[in-house]
Amino acid sequence: MASFYGLFVTIHLLCALTFVGAVFFEVLVIEPVERGLPDETGRQLADAIPRRVRGFMPVVVALLYLSGGAMFWIHFSSRPDFFHTKFGLLLSAKVALTFIVLGVFVSAMRAARKGTMDVCRFRYTHRIVGAVMLGIVLLAKGMFYL
Ligand code: HEM
Repeated sequence: MASFYGLFVTIHLLCALTFVGAVFFEVLVIEPVERGLPDETGRQLADAIPRRVRGFMPVVVALLYLSGGAMFWIHFSSRPDFFHTKFGLLLSAKVALTFIVLGVFVSAMRAARKGTMDVCRFRYTHRIVGAVMLGIVLLAKGMFYL
């Protein structure tokens, strides 16, 4: 399994940049642009975006967590003192944060499917997830350099 590490990290990075990039783009570009649009156009966008995201993001998120899980196992199983190392602790903190994101993502996908995702919840969700993702990416790099 360790010989696939390069493949796992490449898949992980591609999926992370798609997932994190979509959330940052929503908060930094789409939301402010939407606010300047006529109400009807804003509502159409707020309908169309989650529909498009639902089409591919679950696959991206599944690959992100599977590749992350595989790499976690490789590190965990090769270090008996995993939880006593700074790397192990920072990686575990990162993984804990990713499960907050996963919970919010799954509940947002469910709400979008049931049609109970209003514009306010949509924006609120993206801001929280964006902030947690910033922490995840800082930990993902910090665990190697801190
Ligand atoms: C929202 C979910 C996640 C995001 C946004 C994310 C993001 C990232 C990023 C940006 C990196 C740095 C990759 C690089 O620069 O090469 C990384 C590395 C890593 N992630 Fe994640 N990750 C997520 C979920 C997970 C999960 C669920 C696990 C484990 C269960 C995990 C385990 C790892 C490991 C072990 C590395 C180190 C890879 C290396 O050797 O560079 N990640 N992650």
